[in-house]
Amino acid sequence: SRRMLIAIDGPAAAGKGTLARTIAHALKLPYLDTGLLYRAVARKVLDKGVDPQLHSAEEQARHLKEDDLKRHDLRTSEVDIAASLVAAQPLVRQALMGFQQKFAQERGGVLDGRDIGTMICPNADVKLYITASAQTRARRRWLQNGGQLGDPQEKAGILHLLREIEERDSYDRNRTNSPLRKADDAQTIETDDLTPEQVFQKAMAIITSHL
Ligand code: C5P
Repeated sequence: SRRMLIAIDGPAAAGKGTLARTIAHALKLPYLDTGLLYRAVARKVLDKGVDPQLHSAEEQARHLKEDDLKRHDLRTSEVDIAASLVAAQPLVRQALMGFQQKFAQERGGVLDGRDIGTMICPNADVKLYITASAQTRARRRWLQNGGQLGDPQEKAGILHLLREIEERDSYDRNRTNSPLRKADDAQTIETDDLTPEQVFQKAMAIITSHL
């Protein structure tokens, strides 16, 4: 029988990645960060100096290699926005779908993204929807980026990230193709008032109840 399949979706900077990695580690399951696929396509399009909204992104998606996912420049704010732009293109999504479904079918495991529970793995054993207010997510991202509380730049820095996060969320939620959406059978975890450890405990309680 195949391994357990766990789908984790949610908006930008909600802590999906940290949670998915921790669950995968605890349950000894493979992990796929699907956002990395879109980031890698965006990176290649930007390297070519092409507008991320052009259809050439599809070609980059079809020729994506495992090594492209290992680059260290996939989490810049330039790539954040470009990834969201290429991700709205149906042909890009189509080109990346096979890889994700093959991964899920052959290896099972934990996949995180925006459309895992709705489109990529509608038959997942457990579906989680991880969310928090945009304000909370911006503040966490600021701290992650090395920001210090009480820094004179704190307010402006967080506000800048908040705008970016809201722009990306709105783009991901309102696109026609596989928009960010909670699957009907997904369980939501609101993480505003929870530590990463508490989020993990809640998620594990849900997963365990499905075993
Ligand atoms: O998760 P992450 O922030 O790294 O994803 C980057 C972008 O890739 C998202 O803003 C979204 O536009 C796109 N994405 C997607 N579907 C996924 C994962 C990511 O559209 N399953």
